[in-house]
Amino acid sequence: MEVIEAIKTNLAVREFKPDKVPKDTILKILEAGRLAHSSKNTQPWRFILIDDKDKLLLLSKTTPTGAHIANAAFAIALFTENAKLPEVDGARAMEDMMLVAWSLGVGSCWVTNFEEKKVKQILEVPKEWRLITVAPFGYPVNPARKGKKRRKALEEIAYYNVYGNSVTRMMESR
Ligand SMILES: Cc1cc2nc3c(=O)[nH]c(=O)nc-3n(C[C@H](O)[C@H](O)[C@H](O)COP(=O)(O)O)c2cc1C
Repeated sequence: MEVIEAIKTNLAVREFKPDKVPKDTILKILEAGRLAHSSKNTQPWRFILIDDKDKLLLLSKTTPTGAHIANAAFAIALFTENAKLPEVDGARAMEDMMLVAWSLGVGSCWVTNFEEKKVKQILEVPKEWRLITVAPFGYPVNPARKGKKRRKALEEIAYYNVYGNSVTRMMESR
Protein backbone atom coordinates (compact mmCIF):
# COMPACT_ATOMS: atom_id res chain seq x y z
CA MET A 1 0.00 0.00 0.00
CA GLU A 2 1.27 3.48 -0.92
CA VAL A 3 1.89 5.80 2.07
CA ILE A 4 -0.69 8.28 0.79
CA GLU A 5 -3.25 5.48 0.46
CA ALA A 6 -2.57 4.36 4.03
CA ILE A 7 -3.02 7.93 5.28
CA LYS A 8 -6.22 8.39 3.28
CA THR A 9 -7.87 5.21 4.50
CA ASN A 10 -6.54 4.86 8.05
CA LEU A 11 -9.19 5.44 10.71
CA ALA A 12 -9.13 4.91 14.46
CA VAL A 13 -9.99 1.26 15.17
CA ARG A 14 -11.58 0.37 18.50
CA GLU A 15 -13.18 -2.99 17.71
CA PHE A 16 -10.83 -5.86 17.07
CA LYS A 17 -11.33 -9.40 15.81
CA PRO A 18 -10.14 -12.08 18.24
CA ASP A 19 -7.61 -13.30 15.61
CA LYS A 20 -3.93 -13.30 16.49
CA VAL A 21 -1.56 -11.12 14.45
CA PRO A 22 1.41 -13.10 13.06
CA LYS A 23 4.76 -12.52 14.75
CA ASP A 24 6.46 -11.28 11.58
CA THR A 25 3.73 -8.65 11.14
CA ILE A 26 4.23 -7.49 14.74
CA LEU A 27 7.98 -7.32 14.15
CA LYS A 28 7.50 -5.21 11.02
CA ILE A 29 5.39 -2.80 13.08
CA LEU A 30 8.02 -2.55 15.83
CA GLU A 31 10.71 -2.14 13.19
CA ALA A 32 8.86 0.89 11.82
CA GLY A 33 9.08 2.44 15.28
CA ARG A 34 12.76 1.60 15.58
CA LEU A 35 13.49 3.35 12.29
CA ALA A 36 11.60 6.56 13.15
CA HIS A 37 13.24 9.98 13.28
CA SER A 38 14.03 11.51 16.66
CA SER A 39 15.54 14.70 18.01
CA LYS A 40 19.32 14.55 17.40
CA ASN A 41 18.78 10.86 16.59
CA THR A 42 18.66 10.12 20.32
CA GLN A 43 16.07 7.34 19.79
CA PRO A 44 14.76 7.79 23.35
CA TRP A 45 11.73 5.53 22.92
CA ARG A 46 11.21 2.23 24.66
CA PHE A 47 8.51 -0.11 23.39
CA ILE A 48 6.80 -2.80 25.44
CA LEU A 49 4.86 -5.34 23.38
CA ILE A 50 1.94 -6.78 25.34
CA ASP A 51 -0.21 -9.72 24.26
CA ASP A 52 -0.96 -11.14 27.69
CA LYS A 53 -4.77 -10.92 28.00
CA ASP A 54 -4.68 -10.25 31.76
CA LYS A 55 -2.26 -7.38 31.27
CA LEU A 56 -4.32 -5.93 28.41
CA LEU A 57 -7.37 -5.95 30.67
CA LEU A 58 -5.46 -4.32 33.51
CA LEU A 59 -4.09 -1.65 31.16
CA SER A 60 -7.57 -0.92 29.78
CA LYS A 61 -8.60 0.01 33.31
CA THR A 62 -5.84 2.59 33.71
CA THR A 63 -7.62 5.10 31.46
CA PRO A 64 -11.26 6.19 31.11
CA THR A 65 -10.89 6.36 27.30
CA GLY A 66 -9.18 3.08 26.47
CA ALA A 67 -11.61 0.23 27.18
CA HIS A 68 -10.80 -1.17 23.71
CA ILE A 69 -7.27 -2.09 24.86
CA ALA A 70 -8.83 -5.12 26.56
CA ASN A 71 -9.93 -6.62 23.23
CA ALA A 72 -6.79 -5.89 21.24
CA ALA A 73 -4.67 -8.68 19.78
CA PHE A 74 -1.71 -6.84 21.28
CA ALA A 75 -0.73 -3.41 22.49
CA ILE A 76 2.44 -1.40 22.28
CA ALA A 77 3.25 0.75 25.28
CA LEU A 78 5.53 3.58 24.28
CA PHE A 79 7.75 5.24 26.86
CA THR A 80 10.64 7.63 26.49
CA GLU A 81 13.84 7.75 28.50
CA ASN A 82 15.67 11.06 28.93
CA ALA A 83 13.95 12.64 25.95
CA LYS A 84 14.16 16.37 25.36
CA LEU A 85 10.97 16.31 23.29
CA PRO A 86 9.18 13.19 24.58
CA GLU A 87 5.78 13.73 22.94
CA VAL A 88 7.26 14.62 19.56
CA ASP A 89 9.71 11.72 19.49
CA GLY A 90 7.09 9.35 20.84
CA ALA A 91 4.32 10.42 18.48
CA ARG A 92 6.57 10.12 15.44
CA ALA A 93 7.52 6.54 16.31
CA MET A 94 3.94 5.53 17.11
CA GLU A 95 2.51 7.15 13.99
CA ASP A 96 5.01 5.27 11.82
CA MET A 97 4.08 2.02 13.58
CA MET A 98 0.35 2.70 13.14
CA LEU A 99 0.75 3.44 9.43
CA VAL A 100 2.80 0.32 8.77
CA ALA A 101 0.27 -1.69 10.79
CA TRP A 102 -2.57 -0.27 8.68
CA SER A 103 -0.73 -1.09 5.46
CA LEU A 104 -0.61 -4.70 6.70
CA GLY A 105 -4.32 -4.72 7.55
CA VAL A 106 -3.88 -4.12 11.28
CA GLY A 107 -5.86 -1.32 12.91
CA SER A 108 -4.99 0.74 15.98
CA CYS A 109 -6.00 3.77 17.97
CA TRP A 110 -4.10 6.31 20.00
CA VAL A 111 -5.18 6.34 23.67
CA THR A 112 -4.60 9.04 26.31
CA ASN A 113 -5.57 9.88 29.91
CA PHE A 114 -3.57 7.08 31.51
CA GLU A 115 -2.77 6.80 35.19
CA GLU A 116 0.91 6.65 34.40
CA LYS A 117 1.97 5.20 37.75
CA LYS A 118 -0.37 2.24 37.37
CA VAL A 119 0.78 1.55 33.80
CA LYS A 120 4.39 1.54 34.96
CA GLN A 121 3.57 -0.84 37.79
CA ILE A 122 1.75 -3.26 35.47
CA LEU A 123 4.63 -3.26 32.99
CA GLU A 124 7.40 -3.09 35.61
CA VAL A 125 9.22 -0.26 33.85
CA PRO A 126 11.65 2.16 35.53
CA LYS A 127 9.94 5.02 37.39
CA GLU A 128 11.95 7.63 35.46
CA TRP A 129 10.53 6.62 32.09
CA ARG A 130 7.81 8.83 30.64
CA LEU A 131 4.65 7.22 29.31
CA ILE A 132 3.53 8.48 25.91
CA THR A 133 0.73 6.01 25.13
CA VAL A 134 -0.41 2.43 25.18
CA ALA A 135 -1.84 1.74 21.73
CA PRO A 136 -4.05 -1.28 21.01
CA PHE A 137 -3.59 -3.15 17.71
CA GLY A 138 -5.56 -5.89 15.94
CA TYR A 139 -7.54 -6.80 12.86
CA PRO A 140 -10.53 -4.43 12.60
CA VAL A 141 -14.01 -5.90 13.00
CA ASN A 142 -15.12 -3.37 10.41
CA PRO A 143 -12.22 -2.77 8.00
CA ALA A 144 -14.40 -1.11 5.35
CA ARG A 145 -14.87 2.33 6.91
CA LYS A 146 -12.80 3.69 4.02
CA GLY A 147 -13.91 7.03 2.62
CA LYS A 148 -15.63 8.11 5.84
CA LYS A 149 -12.81 10.27 7.05
CA ARG A 150 -14.13 13.51 8.51
CA ARG A 151 -11.45 16.18 8.27
CA LYS A 152 -11.39 19.95 7.78
CA ALA A 153 -10.83 21.23 4.27
CA LEU A 154 -7.23 22.21 3.43
CA GLU A 155 -8.35 25.85 3.01
CA GLU A 156 -9.42 25.95 6.67
CA ILE A 157 -6.00 24.99 8.02
CA ALA A 158 -3.31 25.81 5.43
CA TYR A 159 -2.21 29.18 4.02
CA TYR A 160 0.17 30.37 1.35
CA ASN A 161 3.17 32.53 2.38
CA VAL A 162 1.11 34.50 4.93
CA TYR A 163 -1.79 33.64 7.20
CA GLY A 164 -5.06 34.31 5.40
CA ASN A 165 -3.81 33.65 1.87
CA SER A 166 -5.70 30.70 0.47
CA VAL A 167 -3.60 27.74 -0.63
CA THR A 168 -5.66 27.59 -3.81
CA ARG A 169 -3.73 30.74 -4.89
CA MET A 170 -0.56 28.68 -4.76
CA MET A 171 -2.16 26.21 -7.13
CA GLU A 172 -3.22 29.02 -9.48
CA SER A 173 0.20 30.69 -9.49
CA ARG A 174 2.25 27.59 -10.39
C1 LIG B 1 -3.48 12.80 20.62
C2 LIG B 1 -4.62 11.84 20.44
C3 LIG B 1 -5.28 11.36 21.55
C4 LIG B 1 -6.31 10.42 21.40
N1 LIG B 1 -6.88 9.87 22.51
C5 LIG B 1 -7.82 8.91 22.37
C6 LIG B 1 -8.33 8.22 23.50
O1 LIG B 1 -7.93 8.45 24.64
N2 LIG B 1 -9.25 7.26 23.28
C7 LIG B 1 -9.73 6.95 22.03
O2 LIG B 1 -10.56 6.05 21.91
N3 LIG B 1 -9.24 7.59 20.93
C8 LIG B 1 -8.30 8.54 21.07
N4 LIG B 1 -7.77 9.15 19.95
C9 LIG B 1 -8.27 8.81 18.61
C10 LIG B 1 -9.07 9.97 18.00
O3 LIG B 1 -10.31 10.06 18.68
C11 LIG B 1 -9.26 9.73 16.51
O4 LIG B 1 -8.00 9.70 15.90
C12 LIG B 1 -10.08 10.83 15.87
O5 LIG B 1 -11.36 10.89 16.44
C13 LIG B 1 -10.22 10.61 14.37
O6 LIG B 1 -10.83 9.38 14.18
P1 LIG B 1 -10.95 8.75 12.70
O7 LIG B 1 -9.55 8.67 12.17
O8 LIG B 1 -11.58 7.40 12.90
O9 LIG B 1 -11.77 9.69 11.89
C14 LIG B 1 -6.72 10.05 20.10
C15 LIG B 1 -6.03 10.54 18.98
C16 LIG B 1 -4.98 11.39 19.14
C17 LIG B 1 -4.23 11.85 17.92
